[in-house]
Amino acid sequence: MIINTELEYKGNMFPSQVSSYQKDLDVLSFTTENGVILHITIIRDSVLRFRYTTTGIFENDFSYAITKYASRGYNHLEVAEEEDKYVITTSKLICHVFKADLRNAIYDAKDNSLICQDELGFHWEESYEFGGDIVKMSKVAQEGESYYGLGDKPVDNNLKGKRFENWVTDSYAYGKDTDPIYKAIPFYTALHHKKAYGIFFDNTFRSFFDFCQERRNITSFWAQGGEMNYYFIYGPEMSEVVANYTDLTGKPHELPALWTLGYHQCKWSYYPESKVKDIAKKFRDLKIPCDAIYLDIDYMEGFRCFTWNKEYFPDPKRMVKELREDGFKTIVIIDPGIKIDHDYEVFKEALENDYFCKRADGPYMKGKVWPGECYFPDFTNPEVRDWWSDLFRELVEEIGVKGVWNDMNEPAVMEVPGKTFPNDVRHDYEGNPCSHRKAHNIYGMQMARATYQGLKKFSYPKRPFVITRAAYSGTQRYTSSWTGDNVATWEHLSIANLQAQRMCMSGFSFIGSDIGGFAEQPNGELYARWIQLGVFHPFCRTHSSGDHGDQEPWAFGENITNVVRKFIELRYQLLPYLYTAFWRYAEEGIPILKSLVLYDQHDSHTHYRNDEFIFGEKILACPINEPNAKGRRMYFPMGDWYNWWTDELVTGGQELWVDADLDSMPVFVKAGAMIPKYPVQQYVGEKEIEELTIDVYFKEGKEASQVYEDAHDGYDYIKGRYSLRNFSLQGKKNELIIHQHKSGKYTAPYETFKLKLHGLPFKIKKVQIDKVEYSFKDLKLNGDNVLEVHKDFNDIHIM
Ligand code: GLC
Repeated sequence: MIINTELEYKGNMFPSQVSSYQKDLDVLSFTTENGVILHITIIRDSVLRFRYTTTGIFENDFSYAITKYASRGYNHLEVAEEEDKYVITTSKLICHVFKADLRNAIYDAKDNSLICQDELGFHWEESYEFGGDIVKMSKVAQEGESYYGLGDKPVDNNLKGKRFENWVTDSYAYGKDTDPIYKAIPFYTALHHKKAYGIFFDNTFRSFFDFCQERRNITSFWAQGGEMNYYFIYGPEMSEVVANYTDLTGKPHELPALWTLGYHQCKWSYYPESKVKDIAKKFRDLKIPCDAIYLDIDYMEGFRCFTWNKEYFPDPKRMVKELREDGFKTIVIIDPGIKIDHDYEVFKEALENDYFCKRADGPYMKGKVWPGECYFPDFTNPEVRDWWSDLFRELVEEIGVKGVWNDMNEPAVMEVPGKTFPNDVRHDYEGNPCSHRKAHNIYGMQMARATYQGLKKFSYPKRPFVITRAAYSGTQRYTSSWTGDNVATWEHLSIANLQAQRMCMSGFSFIGSDIGGFAEQPNGELYARWIQLGVFHPFCRTHSSGDHGDQEPWAFGENITNVVRKFIELRYQLLPYLYTAFWRYAEEGIPILKSLVLYDQHDSHTHYRNDEFIFGEKILACPINEPNAKGRRMYFPMGDWYNWWTDELVTGGQELWVDADLDSMPVFVKAGAMIPKYPVQQYVGEKEIEELTIDVYFKEGKEASQVYEDAHDGYDYIKGRYSLRNFSLQGKKNELIIHQHKSGKYTAPYETFKLKLHGLPFKIKKVQIDKVEYSFKDLKLNGDNVLEVHKDFNDIHIM
């Protein structure tokens, strides 16, 4: 961690003896003899914020990451002074702050076990080059400690033994272990002795995390400027850590419209109009469900944002309308680089209003991107964001575009060292002027935020849809995201799996990869296996660079088309299930995908697993990630699991072989689960839902399931027009009881549930629904174990 070896290097500096302590409501302030101040803010009983200054003065307290909706307030706070330390006690934590040097140690208040402890603790190095400090923190790694999270890092789930950098970077054709790539999410979850805590280092400068790489028993993090400012988040459950982090940095501001969870087709690029129409038609002809089609940069006139190439797209409004009539939503790309062209309205407006980023001494920040030389709006200025958001009026309100795709917003600059702006570029940073060193990591986030603002305004009363490549913590409030320019290789299929899991445990669940790979070309087998994985990702889109051949579901021959169709159909059937998982994420911050360690941290077999994951609450999926496979071995977490395809029951806590020919994939359902399904549709809303199928998987014992529904778009759900069904299932040797509790004011269009009973260990003799008994012959049994019941039942006893 020695950064500066020049002559002026003064070495690491440390806080000295505490000379004064003060308490101001929830902020505890400790000042040392050498002028260091530590503020500990009690955000919640389980969330403490640590903030240090070495100058005696704190910077203006501003963060792009922390949401104003974050929960605050604690049940208990007590501070005691002892000879060598202060002892801060909340209902969940005990924190010791040592008087000698400000180091701290945090304990679980329930059992006094040590959770996290400073090694050197806070220290710093003065930066001669830029002024201010390089701020550093080191902690003792506890016995058996593992580390997870950190955003889009393309590495195995457990981060132990590795070092990382957070600097948002355009990373065409990155590979396993490439670091950094597109996103900066300086948040990790640590796990030891079955207890989990998290650290969110809310510092936007280039930052680093070292998980026992530099020194075997030490974890450290540091940044090239700004303040040592981090949140300690206690679990002890990993899911609580992630939920609390997501509460701090924000949940999505609205649920996604259901169609955004459908299948999306993209390519660089589909043009002219006839090509777009051909692709759309082929989906319908081949009966492969699809909800969205994308226009990449070639739809524009010379890559000028907010223009159309009239030769390729003579009448975009008509085209978008015709596509919409066939169920396709049109999504267009918008990049941050604005072409330097004095005849171009958007450029002229931004120039006149002084909206472009400038270099330290005044010239504009000029850089080459797709349109050639460009200037770049300063999205960290709220006035610029307002202007930008208004630019979407025509695209959305007039032309009918349903979503916007923000790319190159790291910001990417071509043919320059570092592939981005130089450090000296100035930014407004919400009225806290700063250089690019500080604004770089949030630039893309603020662009996506401005885009979101526009989409929200002009899509109203429908919900907005945005997708971004670059992100910092908190970006999940505004937009979905994808993992950037990956490659069509088997290794990248595994990387996509890891990245999606990791983003989910980093508070950002609306994530997917370029299915099939962006660069190079997959063969049919790889494409099919990737689709199988992709339908279990929250965002599901095929995208490719296009210069390596076609990548549509039908591009690899009929066999592959059939496999792809089968899995996309499966996704459409599972839409109410995925929507419910999304609702839980937006409501409670519970990740949509759960790595096995997040699902069951108490089973130490999960701590190093990579491939298996839980989709939503109840479905266990594991992709096949090598060629010629007839199946694979996989680990089953504790509990009983039904094979999705065969209903065969598997007992968890062991690794087993699972058959999975090319038309299949290992998918399992937790015993006791109730999985809601819609009929296959070619696009969301194609059919009126006449009946909700619920697959009920028998379990001896109890299990709870939920189904959330609303109008699938619009904002009525916020006014209470939603329907939440809480099911509790209880299975006994010769009886199955299902209880339903319903809340919300939304009335679903269907009247009945089709309950499909799986794994029932007895033959149905009679059924009692809300105390009325039906003998076997009165029952509307549809097939062997399929029961049709009114959707508003309270209790069913199946005997
Ligand atoms: C970048 C994007 C990619 C897009 C291309 C052209 O490489 O990551 O998705 O297709 O630019 O716009």
